[in-house]
Amino acid sequence: MKIFLDTASLDSIKKYNDMGLVDGITTNPTLLSKEKGNPAEIMREIVRIVQGPVSLEVVATTAAEMLEEAHRLKKYGKNVVVKIPMIPDGLKAVKKLKSEGIETNVTLVFSANQAVLAAKAGAAYVSPFIGRLDDAGQDGMSLIREIVQIFKNYQFDTNVLVASIRHPLHVVEAGKIGAQVVTLPPDILGKMMSHPLTDKGLSAFLSDWEKVKKENPGLKI
Ligand code: G3P
Repeated sequence: MKIFLDTASLDSIKKYNDMGLVDGITTNPTLLSKEKGNPAEIMREIVRIVQGPVSLEVVATTAAEMLEEAHRLKKYGKNVVVKIPMIPDGLKAVKKLKSEGIETNVTLVFSANQAVLAAKAGAAYVSPFIGRLDDAGQDGMSLIREIVQIFKNYQFDTNVLVASIRHPLHVVEAGKIGAQVVTLPPDILGKMMSHPLTDKGLSAFLSDWEKVKKENPGLKI
């Protein structure tokens, strides 16, 4: 399972990249709007820091303008994946970009049919937003199950990138289903790392070691 960070925060990206946990990044206009500084500079810096795929999103809504933005974004670095909204013009742009060898990530996917169409147009990734479906009273994870099954049935090589993740259990479920990628807000990655029994166990080890040191003055390991 690949882990992408869903953020434009350079501090978070550096922090988790230094731990070897970041296989890629996804951003969007909302995430960029939360950061201070020039968004174009932030995107360039992300692409410089991270080796893996970095999804940068277009903000145009016509195919012609999306292609222009995609070509500009692609100049930020080889690892740029162009994020395109799941609208008819978006699919037209995806097809053209695929023919040019530019990878795309189709975003704002909320149904299996949309995922199939994005895959047929040539998307390298589809991004179903499971948390927003849960918020709307639907079962987001069922959508992941459907898409993974359909892509398997027909050997689509499009990756299922589970987005809008709200808690660590979403990650476990996505992994059991076999989705290729999860993209996580940094705080979810932090939550995945900790367990109260780890903290309790470590504190017991350290206090027991203090006793050993008292009985063995000058002891070093
Ligand atoms: O990658 C998509 C993601 O950023 C959307 O998440 O929490 O805004 O639904 P959310």
